[in-house]
Amino acid sequence: MAPVEIRKDLFWVGTADFGCRNFHGYSLAPRGTSYNAYLLRDEKTVLFDTVQAHAAPALLRHLEEIVPAEKVDYIVVNHLEQDHAGALDEMVRRCRPEKIFCSAPGAKSMAGYFDTRDWPVQTVKTGDSISTGRRHVSFVETRMLHWPDSMFSYIPEEKTLISNDAFGQNIASSFLYADQAERSDLSAAVEEYFYNIVLPFSSQVLKTLDLAAELKLDIELLAPDHGLIFRTPEDVAFILAKYRELALQKPRKKALIFYDTMWQSTGQQALAIADGLSEADVPYRIMFLKNHHHSEVMTALASCGAVIAGSPTHNNGLLPLVVAMLTYMKGLRPQNRLGGAFGSYGWSGEAPGQIADILGSMKMEQPAPPLKCLYKPKKEDLEAARALGRSIGRELAARCAV
Ligand code: FEO
Repeated sequence: MAPVEIRKDLFWVGTADFGCRNFHGYSLAPRGTSYNAYLLRDEKTVLFDTVQAHAAPALLRHLEEIVPAEKVDYIVVNHLEQDHAGALDEMVRRCRPEKIFCSAPGAKSMAGYFDTRDWPVQTVKTGDSISTGRRHVSFVETRMLHWPDSMFSYIPEEKTLISNDAFGQNIASSFLYADQAERSDLSAAVEEYFYNIVLPFSSQVLKTLDLAAELKLDIELLAPDHGLIFRTPEDVAFILAKYRELALQKPRKKALIFYDTMWQSTGQQALAIADGLSEADVPYRIMFLKNHHHSEVMTALASCGAVIAGSPTHNNGLLPLVVAMLTYMKGLRPQNRLGGAFGSYGWSGEAPGQIADILGSMKMEQPAPPLKCLYKPKKEDLEAARALGRSIGRELAARCAV
């Protein structure tokens, strides 16, 4: 895609990465992604963020369709993660900017990635503002959204917020704006991104949304560094409300069952638990971990108020995919969920208890004790699994009714 003028003298100069599937090194990006960078042409010319290192030639080509690189006066680095700053050293070499603006934690990260001793780095904090001539850029620190260094850049004269990772989606597209996408696809991409990247920082999301209101940021254009840009009042309202809803993590009346199995005994338990959920009128999703990437499972959790995990006991522990899934989920710190644990065994039977301990460490209340069954589930084992599903389902339904 060629550069696009998204406001007067403000250009998208980023790159779409249609081939990306491994986002940030751990998350699945089935729709690809984009690295959005922006160029403001004013009395001072400002580049906001860069791109991943491999995309540096495309960024430079886009930028130079508007101004020669050496005409860039300022580079604003909203975040140092390498999908945004991987091309920073190349751009500093080409642009030789008068100033590089970043937060104080950003300066530390920058020095960790690059030899910045000769770079004209100037740190900024919330409330600081620079003039570009006819416009200003105000900075808002957004610590842990996504790293300690993260910040927003706001251009009041253009009512434009450049939000870096926040409000992003993993979408590589031939179009640039959210109103050009199907709303259901966009909403799914926002949930996928939030649940795999932003979820641990839900409280910071709520504080940032409150701060934006307190600072009276009038936003007509919301431009994240990944995915589509929000340019209509409806779309700006949509993404702000969607972030608040996702960050609040109110219980949802649906359960997620994920499991691995060796000889289908744990798989049969999963199906019986699902029957119990149905008896409690709770919808469910079952995910067999050999068929689903951990990111898909996390995304499914966005619509689920309960997590029921199963593994057979293997060498006194859990099967590796279950360990990986629980580790990934624990790091993303989901809140306000009920939990449940199950699994078959042949002789020692530790797995369900170990799962229950991990769910407990995530502060998930478990309405039923961990359930194990010896070898192949018998009639009474399947009834016990249904009872576990009913018990969790009824508790979830009661919580969602209030
Ligand atoms: Fe897309 Fe935290 O970088």
